[in-house]
Amino acid sequence: MTDMLRPSRRTLLKSAAATAALAAAPVFAPTRFAVGQTAKLKLGLMLPYSGTYAQLGEAITNGFKLAVQEAGNKLGGRDIEYAVVDDESEPAKAPENANKLVNRDKVDFLIGTVHSGVALAMAKVARDTDTMLVIPNAGADAITGPLCAPNIFRSSFSNWQPAFPMGKVVADRGLKNAVTLSWKYAAGEESTGGFKEGLTKAGGKVVKELWLPFPNVEFQPLLTEIAAAKPDVVYVFFAGGGAVKFVRDYAAAGLKDKIPLVGPGFLTDGTLEAQGESAQGLETTLHYGDGLDLPKNKSFVEAYKKAYGREPDVYAVQGYDAGQLIAAGLGAVKGDTGARKDLVAAMEKAEIDSPRGRFTISKAHNPVQDIYLRKVVGTENRVTGVAHRALADPARGCKMA
Ligand code: BEZ
Repeated sequence: MTDMLRPSRRTLLKSAAATAALAAAPVFAPTRFAVGQTAKLKLGLMLPYSGTYAQLGEAITNGFKLAVQEAGNKLGGRDIEYAVVDDESEPAKAPENANKLVNRDKVDFLIGTVHSGVALAMAKVARDTDTMLVIPNAGADAITGPLCAPNIFRSSFSNWQPAFPMGKVVADRGLKNAVTLSWKYAAGEESTGGFKEGLTKAGGKVVKELWLPFPNVEFQPLLTEIAAAKPDVVYVFFAGGGAVKFVRDYAAAGLKDKIPLVGPGFLTDGTLEAQGESAQGLETTLHYGDGLDLPKNKSFVEAYKKAYGREPDVYAVQGYDAGQLIAAGLGAVKGDTGARKDLVAAMEKAEIDSPRGRFTISKAHNPVQDIYLRKVVGTENRVTGVAHRALADPARGCKMA
């Protein structure tokens, strides 16, 4: 049987009754349409809805559901059913959570998550069970590196991507000696590593690397070390609730006007109302920013505000684009998840009209995208320039099967 005609194991299991009836029919010949469109499409959302990344999970969910609504509440012509799990940004619980969605709920797509450690476990489950996985945030470099696979896509970024250009931005301003600080897990290690690579290449150096465990927010002793080291610049990776507290503590310690603080845009995205005065003037690099003068951004911001009563942030954009990417794939196979090769090929070829600007998908299944320089003005991360145009992750170690 060709790939075009072969229904997926999960679709068959899920529509067992329909399949049994068809099998009993004397003249039954399986077709893509007969199997592909009988059952609802089951989407497994595995995201944080509690803890320091809770708001990020909420924004991704909102963005994703907005894309589905705009597609007429169907993908590839099929109605949608959601199975939802709060992953708590807890890597230890991730294999069980992901396996439940795949084996108990029989989802057609796994969608998640925010935390790189949790996403690495999801990628393992997706590879082991050959389940489609779309990652709407977590940047773990390995997922589009050594762990890359035909069934795994990302609609967000690799941790290296927004970090690398910031190294050159600060070095070009003569800020050559940097201290880095982050939570000690994949995202923080890879983000500070990407910054260090960019800075070193541009003639600077990292003089000290400081860490604390995720999601610890006891920043005081580290701020004392930074003050004593007197670097030209401080680069940090924090997001969500941790980013709010860090930016406030940095200002309260009297460091904001003495040592420039920079980072990937997660430091100030979705956080500005809580950070207030302490964030004003901070500069970050990211693949989205406020005020992008693009028709798609304008219509997205308007639709998001209408649906949810608040401004979208980068996480909402990534959720929205995960929906658009899946819609592109399923549209091409008319909802038949069993036509796996065609589904994957359509997702690989998709050019996503994103609020961040159009992007394509790299061979390793990661967005190739512009990285913007942004500055906080009021409650906006205002785009002030492009730090790196059409940046592809180096995808070190990716050998696509
Ligand atoms: C991560 O764990 O990959 C991550 C979490 C929050 C923001 C950005 C990246």
